[in-house]
Amino acid sequence: MRILCVVGARPNFMKIAPIIHEIRRHPDLTPILVHTGQHYDASMSDAFFRDLDIPEPDAHLRVGSGSHAAQTAGVMIAFEPVLSQQAPDVVVVVGDVNSTLACALVAAKLGVPVAHVEAGLRSRDRTMPEEINRLATDAIADILLTPSEDADANLRSEGVAPERIRRVGNVMIDTLVQQRARATPPSLWHEAGLAEGRYLYVTMHRPANVDTPEMLGHFLGIFGEIQRRVPVVWPLHPRTRARLAEFGLMDSARQWPGLVLGEPLPYRESLWLMASSAGVITDSGGVQEETTALGIPCLTARPNTERPITVTHGTNTLVGSDRERILCEVAAILDGRGKRGRTPPLWDGHAAERIIAALRELVPACRAARQSPAPAHAPRANGEPG
Ligand code: UD1
Repeated sequence: MRILCVVGARPNFMKIAPIIHEIRRHPDLTPILVHTGQHYDASMSDAFFRDLDIPEPDAHLRVGSGSHAAQTAGVMIAFEPVLSQQAPDVVVVVGDVNSTLACALVAAKLGVPVAHVEAGLRSRDRTMPEEINRLATDAIADILLTPSEDADANLRSEGVAPERIRRVGNVMIDTLVQQRARATPPSLWHEAGLAEGRYLYVTMHRPANVDTPEMLGHFLGIFGEIQRRVPVVWPLHPRTRARLAEFGLMDSARQWPGLVLGEPLPYRESLWLMASSAGVITDSGGVQEETTALGIPCLTARPNTERPITVTHGTNTLVGSDRERILCEVAAILDGRGKRGRTPPLWDGHAAERIIAALRELVPACRAARQSPAPAHAPRANGEPG
């Protein structure tokens, strides 16, 4: 079986790495890796290939940044000939970025089975581009590989036939388990004199939080307040750095000695900072999960999450952008009253093994079904009318 795996943006790398490594353990499986180039800076892409031992891609589409339409269309146009040439048995897409949807669409239209890893997550907030990508990818995917029970329930309520859903657990936690002992302090750890459990770690890059001067200035004011008590360490995503400069906020960000700004960090250094912190403030999806797996309290600066299990089982608390709420939760964390949770089922470091088992089971059936399409008026496999 030839398994084509797609990566494009930073959060994809930690999900694809364990899958590629698992495929390589099976002599009868061939991995094909395609990098769309949605993220292209060394710190947003190459560093992750290095840290996570991801092999050189078989094809690099070098699509780069752009509007949603331009980026999604650019990936589609560049991916189509690569897919035709590689002729895989299945295309594996992960997560919810523009590259995920673009490659799923191309594969579905060329009649190649699509497996979606991290299927079924829903924030029910269609103002988020990722929610559109999740809905659309799941609607056209053949094999839906979910991280948690809530995801299964979402898919079933949307009419997806249960035989196309497999709960495999959280593949990003495979990477965390593999890399935990190899986490290393970044240079800013020494430069800023950080100490275990005595700082907060911040990641923030969602358009809703950083794309207006009011909102970005609002969060900056909150971090300015917190840094009076403990250092706040904030590696800047390129989008956030660009907005701080564009809105003239960089000087006020630099005025506080306890606000430690930095470049985007490689995986192992980010993992070190997260695992050693008192707590985390984030708007990232992946960081909500990683903090739950590490048992580190997490305040999510969003009104909703597509990962509710991190709230019900894990260490996550949704705080939106409410200044008083955030300061109150931070005080609780610093006083040792931060939320403690437990690791959700199947977040155990073995999701990639279950993904490969599911592909072995379901891909042959998908391919057979493609060769004998359903009659025009028969119900479709997902339970919708024909
Ligand atoms: C994308 C994903 C988001 C994910 C995030 C993680 C979509 C819709 N969004 O958002 O879900 O959480 O990645 O990082 O797919 N840029 C660089 N260098 C890079 C990449 C981007 O400088 O290597 C800059 C560009 O100016 C670009 C901006 O960052 O315009 C945003 O990048 P883009 O890929 O459009 O979206 P993200 O905000 O990174």
